[in-house]
Amino acid sequence: MGANPRCPTRLPAWRNTLNDKVTAYPVMEKLVALCKRRGFIYPSSEIYGGLSGCYDYGPLGVELKNNLKACWWRAMTCHHDNIEGLDTSILMHPRVWEASGHAVGFTEPLVECRKCRQRFRADSAAATVCPQCGGDLTEPRRFNLMFKTFMGPSDSPASPVYLRPEIAPGMFVNFLNVLNSSRQKLPFGIAQIGKAFRNEITPGNFIFRSREFEQMAMQFFVLPGSEGEWLERWRTERMAWHQAIGIRAEKLRWHPHRPEELPHYAAAAFDVQYEFPFGWQEIEGVHHRTDFDLARHQEYSGKRLTYYDEERKSHLVPHVIETAAGCDRTLLSALVDAYREEPAGDEMRVVLRLSPKIAPVKAAVLPLVRKDGLPEIAHAITQDLMRWFRVEYDETASVGKRYRRQDEIGTPYCITVDAETRVNQTVTVRDRDTMQQERVAAGQLRFWLDDRIRFD
Ligand code: GAP
Repeated sequence: MGANPRCPTRLPAWRNTLNDKVTAYPVMEKLVALCKRRGFIYPSSEIYGGLSGCYDYGPLGVELKNNLKACWWRAMTCHHDNIEGLDTSILMHPRVWEASGHAVGFTEPLVECRKCRQRFRADSAAATVCPQCGGDLTEPRRFNLMFKTFMGPSDSPASPVYLRPEIAPGMFVNFLNVLNSSRQKLPFGIAQIGKAFRNEITPGNFIFRSREFEQMAMQFFVLPGSEGEWLERWRTERMAWHQAIGIRAEKLRWHPHRPEELPHYAAAAFDVQYEFPFGWQEIEGVHHRTDFDLARHQEYSGKRLTYYDEERKSHLVPHVIETAAGCDRTLLSALVDAYREEPAGDEMRVVLRLSPKIAPVKAAVLPLVRKDGLPEIAHAITQDLMRWFRVEYDETASVGKRYRRQDEIGTPYCITVDAETRVNQTVTVRDRDTMQQERVAAGQLRFWLDDRIRFD
């Protein structure tokens, strides 16, 4: 009997990369293709058919991601002398996840098609039929999203450890370590960037919902009673940050959680949402987590996690305002926001209008022609700028083609070395967005660029 085309043979969970929904959105499809072609993002383990919900960042992607993380780190730690950085381990004591509520509560309702055996999140499937083949669905059951593994030379199910599903607990369990080893007093924060893992039932929309991703999060510990004021301050600051890395304000909005949407640990929660081609979606959460985490870790560890308040002359458990952004989702919002197809002279160009602060390549150095000593001068400029920024040298093809290449990867400035350079040591600098050119002294290029790409 032939295969039923409406009921495909079930692929193993790790092989359903091709089920990704991006093909429903032309802009997403073009962006995914550009990311692959130009070396921003590739499917993980692609030569083996891919691994669902996992992606690799290519040469340009890793630069973009590093720049994004550096902007976040500067904004959260360097700009605040009451926020300390931290980098905690991915594997943590199993009791951590009991205290945090993840061991029992970090679940999604899962249904399975009785016919094609595909599994879906209950809320993403139609009430009773399979969206793939129309078959009957099982009753929903709770599925824990934490990846389980084993520590040491034992594969006994009695001793599992988990890949952290979020980075927040590393900061809570180190509350006292940071307090005692720094000279901070309330209010103060702990910031961290790191990988998190969730065995999502339906990963999709490219890097929007993946199974391995990075978070950039900060826990701000405050005196009970002051949480309302701090929640507002952090909301304002976080929204301003997304705009500071170049995201258009009209594409960002707040989504306040309704009581039934609130995570178990939060008394109030607001999501920063971005308008993706597939709708308004969360890229960051700003939450009032009350004293839930410290109180629970105190209870489960048996260690006192309090702060001595000099004024009140008493020990208290601080409240926490959390800002938790997805690095990959923020990066996707930056790419989507930057992607344009627009006329340039007689042709159309594809341009990534990324903010110069996060653009992977800051400048391209182009000799106008491959003779008359221009390549040598261009090489010398490249060598000098390479000490400070990621720059590219390119002497192939016409200068127009070279501009297009750089437009497509979001390089904000193209520096052209021409005959005049030999006379007066100036170059032209072309602005990616306006396509206007200005002459700049070659010796000033480092400072000229620095003024425009620095995140302050
Ligand atoms: N500590 C709170 C916390 O983890 P969350 O809303 O579950 O809250 C924070 O996650 C951020 O992490 C989200 O706003 C999102 O940007 C990112 N994120 C969550 N799940 C993700 C996934 N499966 N793939 C990519 N990013 C994800």
